[in-house]
Formats: sequence, structure tokens, C-alpha cells
Amino acid sequence: MLKDISYKDYRRSDDIHGTVLYPAVMVAPVQKAVLQDLRKNSADHSIRTIFDPFHGSGTALYESHLVFPEAELYGCDINPLANLITKAKLTGVSDSIDKDIFAIETHIKQDQSSMIHEFSNRKKWFRDDVAISLTKVRNAIIATEDASNRAFFWCMMSDVVRRYSNSRSSTYKLHIKPKERIDAMSDRVVADFIHAIKENKTKYTKVHFNNFTLYKNDVLSCIKTMDSGSIDLIITSPPYGDNNTTVPYGLFSSLALRWIDKDDLPLEGWELDNYSIIDNRSLGNGHTELSLTQKQEALLTPYLTGISDVKKLKVYRFFHDYFSCLDNISRISNRYIVLTVGNRTVDRVRIDLASITNQYLTRTGYTEYQVVSRDILNKRTPPITSIVREKPVESMKKEYVLIFEKGKSI
Ligand SMILES: C[S@@+](CC[C@H](N)C(=O)[O-])C[C@H]1O[C@@H](n2cnc3c(N)ncnc32)[C@H](O)[C@@H]1O
Repeated sequence: MLKDISYKDYRRSDDIHGTVLYPAVMVAPVQKAVLQDLRKNSADHSIRTIFDPFHGSGTALYESHLVFPEAELYGCDINPLANLITKAKLTGVSDSIDKDIFAIETHIKQDQSSMIHEFSNRKKWFRDDVAISLTKVRNAIIATEDASNRAFFWCMMSDVVRRYSNSRSSTYKLHIKPKERIDAMSDRVVADFIHAIKENKTKYTKVHFNNFTLYKNDVLSCIKTMDSGSIDLIITSPPYGDNNTTVPYGLFSSLALRWIDKDDLPLEGWELDNYSIIDNRSLGNGHTELSLTQKQEALLTPYLTGISDVKKLKVYRFFHDYFSCLDNISRISNRYIVLTVGNRTVDRVRIDLASITNQYLTRTGYTEYQVVSRDILNKRTPPITSIVREKPVESMKKEYVLIFEKGKSI
């Protein structure tokens, strides 16, 4: 059984998960401890297939491979940047990395062009001199032959893109910086990029794994095609609400996605149509259905009375998709489900996603194996996120790891 999962001294910058920024990432040692506990308790060690339906930056899949190196891994995410980061972490860099870094440096030094890679609203988000430097980095990456090294380079570039964009770094959304701050930025794009690839390459040499499948898709479509009982362990951290009002993973990724070569992104074709389209198609936003079953409605009702009609609609939409996902997760799992969730606030009403999830799954043939919670430390989100009806709304302080086992009914 798990005891202390606070990991107060854990610094993401010490491992691979700190090499590239992604919003709301899981705390790697927590996931690893859960996985090790399940390994110990599965006496027959029969965990052969693992699936993360919202894999994000691949924290759970990467840690899963460390604990269950023999397992086949599956992941899904609607965001192509999430797919690229996860692929880079799992595949690692190849033996030619030092040669390729040298080639990148040479390519950039020799590039005297002032060409700019253009896309819609480029001028709004990048100064011309910054865009010229980013174009040089982009061209040098495209010239790299080795696909796994290219994936690593794109990940390192994605942080540099955000750092030198005209958007504030204090938020995952896109918010233009004041003009004085844009003008005051010095262009260290190339130096920062070269520093990042040299500094982080060794963290990508520890794992070279190829037995994984990542779906760049809406999980609600992807999961329907998966066979019942085909997955031994589902481990994930789902969104806590619709992206637009919680964490805008798509907006956060939108600038980097415009610089990365399309040939290296798993695109369905619509992802670059506008800056908010990924969030608009994510859980709770992409579908218009509102119908909930009686059982689902009953779980939500206690929270809905204090919420305004407009926001109620959003909550309904989110839970329609969330429950549909849980239905499929419970169908395809044949043993363990591990969900890391938080309880968000809507109109000052705290929606207890942990309790709703717990009740839902335990009524669908699962038993609670263990529930642990931890304080969320070092958050980028401020302690007060907004003011509603003249009162401050606190951000999420705790996250819960819910572990269920199929059957074993009480
Ligand atoms: C809490 S994050 C996962 C973070 C991840 N555990 C990590 O450590 O990086 C939730 C993820 O769900 C993805 N997502 C949201 N709606 C989705 C959908 N309908 N289908 C697939 N992925 C979706 C987001 O793109 C985001 O990457």
C-alpha cells in the first residue's frame, strides 16, 4: 500500500519530464510509486498492456515503461504536441545525437538568410528578428535525417518558441505582453536552443523503446475501437473540466505547433485551422450532446443547484464526455484503473470529481483498491484564480490518485 506520496523534494528539472514544458503534468515519482505498488501486488506480474487515454507529455507512459519494461504501451491525446513529446521521451535520441548537434550548430552559423517561416498572425506573436532566428533553428532541424533526434530537437525548440513569443509566460493562455516588454526582449533564440539540446540530450539516452502505439485522436473515437478487456492497466490524468475554462492545452501548444514541420506532426488536418481549435474539440467541447443517464444525472445534481445556467451547460457537456470515457475505460480494462484527478470550482461550487468518479466506477463493477491524495505544490496557477460574485476563487490545492480493481466485489 502507498504511504507518503507528497514528494516535496522532487524537482522536475532533475529528470526527463522537466526538459519540456506541458501544462498540468503528473508528478512522475507518484505515478512510479503507484506502478511499483501494483507490480508488487500483481503476484503473477501479468500486466502486459498499459493504456493512457489522455497521455499529455507522456509522464505515465514513460514511468510505466520503467516499471513494466515488458508491457506494450498505448496512448491517446488530441493534441499533436503531446504526441510528439511522448514519442520523443519513449524513443530517446539515437547514437548520432552528438554528430547531429554539431551539424545543427554549423547549419545555423552558416545560415545568413533573413527568410521568415510565415503563418497566420505570425507578426502578432513573434518579432521579425526573433522569427528569423527561429526560422534558422527550424531549417537546421528539418535538415537532420534521424527522425528520433529530430523529435527531440522539436521538443527543445517548443520551449524556446514560447519563451521568445510575444505572449506572457505567466499563463498557459495566449495573452500579449505589454509593448515595452516585447521591445525589451533580447533575441537569444539560437543560444538558448543550443544550450537546451546539449544540456538535455543525456536525459533522452536512458530509454529506447519502440513497442508503443500513440493515437493522435479524440479519445471518444479512439477508445470505441479498442477491444473489451484488452488492457491490463489504464493509467491517466483526465482533464478536470473543458479546456477553455480549465487548462487550455491547445492554446498553450499552438505557437510551437506553427513552427514544427508538419511532416513531423501526427496531424488529422484541422489542428492548425485556428489557434483555439484544439481546445474547442477537446473533452467537453467537441460534442453537443447533453443527455445524461439517470445514474449520471444523480451524481451531478448535488453540485448543480448553485451554478448559473450558462455554466451548468458547460458542466453537463463535460460530464457527458467524461462519463462516456469512463464507460469505455471500464469496458476495455481487465484489471486496474488509475486516475489522477482534481476537484475544480465552478461558480464557487467545488465539483468533487474524485468522489463522482469513485461512485461511478464502483457502480460499474470496480472496487476501490486505494485512494491517496497529495497537496499540489509549486503550481504555476496563482492561489486565487478569479473573482466570482466579488469573492475570490481558490485554485485547486489537492490532487487524488484513485486506484480501482476490476471485480473483487465487496
Ligand atoms: C491532465 S492532461 C494530461 C497530462 C499528462 N498526464 C502529463 O503528465 O503530461 C490532459 C490531456 O488530455 C488531453 N485531451 C483533452 N481532451 C481530449 C480528448 N477529447 N481526447 C484525447 N485527449 C484529450 C489534453 O490534450 C491533455 O494533454
